[in-house]
Amino acid sequence: MSPQCALTALISLLFATVTAKAMISQWPEDDGAALLVFKEKLDGGGTTLPSWNQSTHFCTWQGVICGRRHPERVTTINLTTADLMGQISPSIGNLSFLRNIFLDDNSLDGEILSSIGRLCCLRFLVLKFNSLDGKIPFELFNCSELTIINLYRNRFVGNVLHWFDSLLVCKNNLTGVIPTLLANAHPSRSWCCTITT
Ligand SMILES: *[C@@H]1O[C@H](CO)[C@@H](O)[C@H](O)[C@H]1NC(C)=O
Ligand SMILES: *[C@@H]1O[C@H](CO)[C@@H](O)[C@H](O)[C@H]1NC(C)=O
Ligand SMILES: *[C@@H]1O[C@H](CO)[C@@H](O)[C@H](O)[C@H]1NC(C)=O
Ligand SMILES: *[C@@H]1O[C@H](CO)[C@@H](O)[C@H](O)[C@H]1NC(C)=O
Ligand SMILES: *[C@@H]1O[C@H](CO)[C@@H](O)[C@H](O)[C@H]1NC(C)=O
Repeated sequence: MSPQCALTALISLLFATVTAKAMISQWPEDDGAALLVFKEKLDGGGTTLPSWNQSTHFCTWQGVICGRRHPERVTTINLTTADLMGQISPSIGNLSFLRNIFLDDNSLDGEILSSIGRLCCLRFLVLKFNSLDGKIPFELFNCSELTIINLYRNRFVGNVLHWFDSLLVCKNNLTGVIPTLLANAHPSRSWCCTITT
């Protein structure tokens, strides 16, 4: 974990402790509450989403993985091909230890909201094969650990989109405007971005 990442995580932990008040779940200030808010914007989900209920700890919910060092913090959401409809809730930005988001192969629509920029530990953002639209938020650049972005086959629009012209940019093969921006922001890392119109 980078120092910045660790610091942000610490701050969010302190913040969560301070603001622990009546919330919707039995896990007051933590990731379980954020997951339940995240679920509110979703439909479908086969047997996956119904398992997201308070009869079991949120770390056991299908598609949810918690950390080894931080057992109460969600590090991965894997809802690949889960028959999901609906939108990605801004509450995802409250899962401050989240490293991997796999929501590919669903029918999600709506936009990627700027709250995703609060995910300091995010490394994988895989949203390919959905119907997401709107602009790709600038705040994504705040995710300084982000190395894999796969937004293939969605409906993104707007000025940001033409920055993402390059279809495939992998492993130091930096071309196109977005990879240049990313590379300038984080020169020591290689990137893999798959984005298309
Ligand atoms: C809650 O989740 C458990 C498994 O995690 C499942 O067996 C149960 O049916 C779920 N409850 C509801 C109301 O969906
Ligand atoms: C996500 O979950 C599916 C189904 O459980 C699994 O097949 C897939 O390998 C997982 N993806 C990742 C990247 O772990
Ligand atoms: C994120 O968490 C804070 C409290 O820690 C809460 O006030 C806020 O409503 C949450 N945001 C979302 C989108 O769930
Ligand atoms: C992203 O970082 C900038 C400064 O680097 C900050 O002003 C902004 O609030 C951050 N946005 C989010 C969504 O965290
Ligand atoms: C970089 O791209 C070129 C073609 O543009 C390709 O020949 C080369 O194998 C790529 N290198 C890597 C490391 O992917």
